Amino acid sequence: MTVDVAAIRSGFPALRLGVAHFDGPGGSQTPECVADAVAATLVAGVANRGTVTAAERRAEDIVTGARAAVADLLGCQPGGVVFGRSMTQLTYDVARALAKEWQPSDEVVVTRLDHDGNIRPWVQAAEAVGATVRWAEFDSDTAELPVEAVTDLLSDRTRVVAVTGASNLLGTRPDVAAIARAAHDAGALVYVDGVHLTPHAPIDVAALGADFFACSPYKFFGPHHGVVVADPALLESLRPDKLLPSSDAVPERYELGTLPYELLAGTTATVDFIAKLVPGDGNRRRRVLTSMAAVEEHEEKLFDRLLDGLAGIDAVTLHGSPARRTPTALFSVRDRNGRDVYEHLASRGVNAPASQFYAIEASRWMGLGDEGAVRAGLAPYTNDEDIDRLLAGVAEVAR
Ligand SMILES: Cc1ncc(COP(=O)(O)O)c(C=O)c1O
Repeated sequence: MTVDVAAIRSGFPALRLGVAHFDGPGGSQTPECVADAVAATLVAGVANRGTVTAAERRAEDIVTGARAAVADLLGCQPGGVVFGRSMTQLTYDVARALAKEWQPSDEVVVTRLDHDGNIRPWVQAAEAVGATVRWAEFDSDTAELPVEAVTDLLSDRTRVVAVTGASNLLGTRPDVAAIARAAHDAGALVYVDGVHLTPHAPIDVAALGADFFACSPYKFFGPHHGVVVADPALLESLRPDKLLPSSDAVPERYELGTLPYELLAGTTATVDFIAKLVPGDGNRRRRVLTSMAAVEEHEEKLFDRLLDGLAGIDAVTLHGSPARRTPTALFSVRDRNGRDVYEHLASRGVNAPASQFYAIEASRWMGLGDEGAVRAGLAPYTNDEDIDRLLAGVAEVAR
């Protein structure tokens, strides 16, 4: 099944502005149907969740609907879907809840490849109880994170392994399933940062072996909030801090304050939109998987063109060459700092920012310091013309 890029693009008002967006890894553009769902909810007559008034029931249905939608996107149970402000906030919350049971003799494993959102919450939670942090290092030439780089650090003291599903800086997709198998054998939980992976691949949290899997709908066409999913039984076993009168049920126990109903309605619309990206049969879960497989194929083809084009420009250095990757390229141009390239491209209507993108450990490890480099990330709406424009802009600045 192939992606009809022109048809997809027609759903995105922002793309009519004529900008080529390679900034999707920072946040994708949003289709009109998602914006409509958000706006409609705000004016629909919504109250706090309940069963007495129609407004209460609408809020209830929105939350139930959004949990079902995320479950179809990720292949998990609706009762294990926790909503929050962002992946960062949810990861801090889960880390603090887990750390309540840690001892000073315990250890957590983090990777140098990860976004700081899946590093610092664990480092700080470990520090608070005197537990030890073990760092898994990746290969700074290839940007690969070998399975053994993580599994060699495991012991019967390991409580959590925090690993990314895909690097938002370099695109690397570590073998999370193999890491998770070894972590489970050691008795550790696995927390997967799926923020950068979810927009680019079909996701099955059980197949990945993720005990927790976090993602952010604003990276895959949706509104700005975060999600973490887990087995409801695991969520049941933890005691996060919460208010006395708020629900102790799972997953509500983890959802501090009132949920953003309008954003959740937007997320349901997002999953419905993804399910319709290509024609498909079966229930929404099946259609999501069909769509995401088609997206992966489409992005891979375009990405090959992008990589070949960049490699063909003499002054360009591509950072990392992981075998399994998302369509996300990090590059520098000789004698130009990243900011110059970023600004030159922006002046040509091509959005490809330069930064370490909060993967600060990875950027430093690659020798790119706190400045990082230029990142060009593809999205399902990226087309050949976008690639041509990016390559032309880079060639100009590389002269
Ligand atoms: C890989 C990765 N993890 C985590 C985050 C943080 O997500 P949030 O903004 O939802 O906290 C980002 C955001 O860029 C990301 O790319």
